Amino acid sequence: MEKLPFKRLKGQTALITGAATGIGRATAIQMAREGANVAIDYLSDSARAREVTKIIKDAGGKAVAIQADISREEQVKTLFRKVIETYGTVHILVSNAGIQNEKAVDKMSLEEWQKVINVNLTGTFLCAREAIREFKKRGIQEQVSRAAGKIICISSIHDQVPWARHANYTASKGGIMLLMKSMALEAAPHKIRINSIGPGAIKTPINPKIMKDARAREKLGQSIPYRRVGEPEDIAMAAVWLASDESDYVTGTTLYVDGGMGL
Ligand code: BGC
Repeated sequence: MEKLPFKRLKGQTALITGAATGIGRATAIQMAREGANVAIDYLSDSARAREVTKIIKDAGGKAVAIQADISREEQVKTLFRKVIETYGTVHILVSNAGIQNEKAVDKMSLEEWQKVINVNLTGTFLCAREAIREFKKRGIQEQVSRAAGKIICISSIHDQVPWARHANYTASKGGIMLLMKSMALEAAPHKIRINSIGPGAIKTPINPKIMKDARAREKLGQSIPYRRVGEPEDIAMAAVWLASDESDYVTGTTLYVDGGMGL
């Protein structure tokens, strides 16, 4: 038996988009704990992004914070260039950055539709494209992983569960599902694995009410089959597994982490 504790992502570099807060933050910390060098992409909250790098560095890990708007092609290219300059390559992409903007369809402007699609869906495409390019160029490094690279899309139970007043969001997440599956099919022969995680209700800033209001959280928790709201760490643990060789035969699938909410 190997010596414990075994760091499952040792020697690998993980880029996590939208990692200043919420699921991205927890995933960056968890991946660093498993031995990965992490790159924390953030849009505007530099103080929080630096806080995450500090937590990781104080614990002896490696982390860098990089500002980029993942819905912009040039910024995504620069983001990947900076990550590769810092760590030599990238092995894991967690495409996490996402937004939602509640509106009835008949009240929704084209701009409100497009913004959500641009960040959630086009942002996933832009980041995945750069990651696949790097994975293919580098190939497998047997000492770190059986795969040439791994992509984890943070989607939602709403990649298949409809949601009134969120047509822009559900369309983006439904789009991510088939984008993820098509890319997984295409990239599998290159030993690249691409999967999604479909979180349910998680205590993150995307849900300000359940973040701030313990009563509201408790009430929502009672409506979930597993009788609690999820923590960012619930998703981070699943992301670590999908990034590690423990899931080496898993590609093109969505892992729902929702306490049964989608049921
Ligand atoms: C949304 C949350 C929501 C959850 C369950 C997530 O995708 O971002 O706001 O609570 O789905 O409906």
